[in-house]
Amino acid sequence: MSDIPIANIREPGLSVSFAGLHLRNPVIAASGSFGYGHEYAGLVDAGALGGICSKGLTLEPRAGNRGIRLHETPAGLINSIGLENPGIPAFIEKELPGLRALGTIVFANLSGGSLEAYEEGAALLDAAEGVDAIELNVSCPNVRQGGMNFGLDPGIASEVVRLVRMRTGKPLMVKLSPNAPDLVAVARACEESGADALSLVNTFKAMAIDIERCRPVFDNVTAGLSGPAIRPIALRMVFEVAGAVSIPVVGMGGISTAGDAIEFLMAGAVAVQVGTATFADPDTMCDILKGLKAFLAAHGHASVAAIVGAAQDPRWRSRQRRASPDRG
Ligand SMILES: Cc1cc2nc3c(=O)[nH]c(=O)nc-3n(C[C@H](O)[C@H](O)[C@H](O)COP(=O)(O)O)c2cc1C
Repeated sequence: MSDIPIANIREPGLSVSFAGLHLRNPVIAASGSFGYGHEYAGLVDAGALGGICSKGLTLEPRAGNRGIRLHETPAGLINSIGLENPGIPAFIEKELPGLRALGTIVFANLSGGSLEAYEEGAALLDAAEGVDAIELNVSCPNVRQGGMNFGLDPGIASEVVRLVRMRTGKPLMVKLSPNAPDLVAVARACEESGADALSLVNTFKAMAIDIERCRPVFDNVTAGLSGPAIRPIALRMVFEVAGAVSIPVVGMGGISTAGDAIEFLMAGAVAVQVGTATFADPDTMCDILKGLKAFLAAHGHASVAAIVGAAQDPRWRSRQRRASPDRG
């Protein structure tokens, strides 16, 4: 038997704080995979999660895209939902009270088709009691106007962030697109324009063809790929962005096990989001939490903070910083 008195055995702490938010743990439900929380009632103890990102919200209601919306690929899912949502006023009235009652941190995922729509949406969410933070989505690949286009270019991303920043004092996390030609440049532009944190990645632009019909599967031709297929690339992007900015980074892309989540944390993410894996197994996020706790205990770590950025190479990090002329 161990001679360590029971009282001296400490469980590792899972809580994390960033951008003025205090999360009970670093596992957050990704936008679009968890609805407004209540859809999983009886299946997932949503209150045990670190946070929930709402489905993408726009000022006006959106019916979403026509045609096929989900298409499975090996180790992945291609979606073309098209930001179906009831609009921000209806979200605040009908969905937010239930989301808030789950007792975890609420991130409202804000999207828009124009700068004005982003600004107005941000002002409404800023005034809404129960929205703890805004996740600004400049990365949705499934809408024709706006969406991802705002996140591909550092100048345009910077303008959206600057305008939204003026409309909210709440923590502002900007969600980046892996489809940006220079993701690090976009990340730095968002940081300089007032983002408190960054989350990445959204889905990768992809497509599928129905060989019997000799046509693209999706009416919009292209759609967004998520799931384990994107994980190693998403991990590389999180590693690079976390090494290049000073604000906290939340990582996601294909995470489905505790080991996957630990990789993202070691790459420099302060927290992780889980999306597609929840569709396959609603228990995924709770299993990740159990596995994370066991890993920290087995390696003698007192907290999650002990592993955040552990795989970042300090020499590489300083090279990245030197490469940016503005940062000295
Ligand atoms: C069906 C579906 C709907 C999504 N809807 C949104 C959305 O409304 N807003 C958003 O920012 N991301 C949305 N995403 C992207 C996810 O939040 C996440 O960034 C991406 O899927 C990568 O993580 P994963 O591989 O764990 O799913 C959606 C993803 C899926 C699969």
